[in-house]
Amino acid sequence: MTGIVTADHKKTAFVTGVTGQDGSYLVELLLNKGYRVIGAKRRTSTICTDRVDHLFEDKNFILEYYDLNDTSRTWQLINKYRPDEIYNLAAMSHVRVSFDIPENTVDGIAMGTLRLLNACKELVPDSKFYQASSSEMFGDNPNYPFNEESKLMPASPYACAKVFAHNLCRNYRLAYNMHVSSGILFNHESPRRGETFVTRKITLAAAKIKQGLQDRLFLGNLEAKRDWGFAGDYAEAMWIMLQQDVPDDYVIATGETHTVREFLEEVFSHAGLDVEKHLHIDPRLFRPHEVPYLLGNPEKAKNKLNWEPKITFKKLAKKMYDEDYELVKRLKRRIK
Ligand SMILES: NC(=O)c1ccc[n+]([C@@H]2O[C@H](COP(=O)([O-])OP(=O)(O)OC[C@H]3O[C@@H](n4cnc5c(N)ncnc54)[C@H](OP(=O)(O)O)[C@@H]3O)[C@@H](O)[C@H]2O)c1
Repeated sequence: MTGIVTADHKKTAFVTGVTGQDGSYLVELLLNKGYRVIGAKRRTSTICTDRVDHLFEDKNFILEYYDLNDTSRTWQLINKYRPDEIYNLAAMSHVRVSFDIPENTVDGIAMGTLRLLNACKELVPDSKFYQASSSEMFGDNPNYPFNEESKLMPASPYACAKVFAHNLCRNYRLAYNMHVSSGILFNHESPRRGETFVTRKITLAAAKIKQGLQDRLFLGNLEAKRDWGFAGDYAEAMWIMLQQDVPDDYVIATGETHTVREFLEEVFSHAGLDVEKHLHIDPRLFRPHEVPYLLGNPEKAKNKLNWEPKITFKKLAKKMYDEDYELVKRLKRRIK
């Protein structure tokens, strides 16, 4: 049996990567639905809970230290809370950085998922498990748009590890009849996106340039095409997947693709800035092996999950810039 039966019989969700972009949107959604949420965060030397700080006062939100690389802690936490739903979002998620620290990246994503799946298989075999798979798994495959059956041709240590974890989830589903679903999520962004990811780097730089705090913006490959959606919409898709009777894999995407250059131009034009005056291309920011084109086909999610993205490209660029503009304004006030 899963879930500690509380007085009001609420469900318990265990979320790894809770301090990340997706973790924060997912926890908000789960708390709103009345879940008790166990947020699993790793120990860091500086406080990095800003994305979930606003949720601390909710008595249904519990933070626990956890690390993908710590088997005994994984078992201890799953045993302690006996969750009904497990969302495995933790990862070293930066593709370019995965070329610099491949061993750490692969161990966390591949072995970390194995550790969590094993603990769930033994301790809560009836729980439902969500795996954060990635469009990066399609890598070198030239036959877009990609759906759930498209060939996986990973082109980075990050993507290779995600393929391992994705296959493992499918294997546990079939071998042990576990309710394991993977969301093959295409790029999704938000004002909470990490500042080293290209979209956020652009919106934050534009907000700082506009307010006189920065002059130059250093970027790598502007021609890579990505299918960009909003993280809040994608967190909803994760939850819907675990409400299905039958587990499965789903592509979550907008079905539109745009270059990094288009995102840059959209943001700068909204800000009233001239791209050419501020842009500098830095070869060090290029990936050793680029994925040139990502475009998803979200038909299965539309038909079976009744899920559709609400925020698409232009709205997303504007939303991210507008929030960063306000953030920079607040920072400026604090400096004065
Ligand atoms: N955003 C996208 O476009 C996208 C697309 C497809 C798939 N994904 C996948 O979806 C998941 C969530 O993405 P995101 O955008 O929310 O990523 P994110 O903002 O980078 O968050 C990743 C989270 O994982 C945690 N983490 C990293 N290494 C860990 C470890 N060894 N042990 C425990 N926790 C660890 C991070 O903790 P710290 O806060 O301490 O760093 C953070 O909370 C990731 O698995 C990512 O690979 C993302």
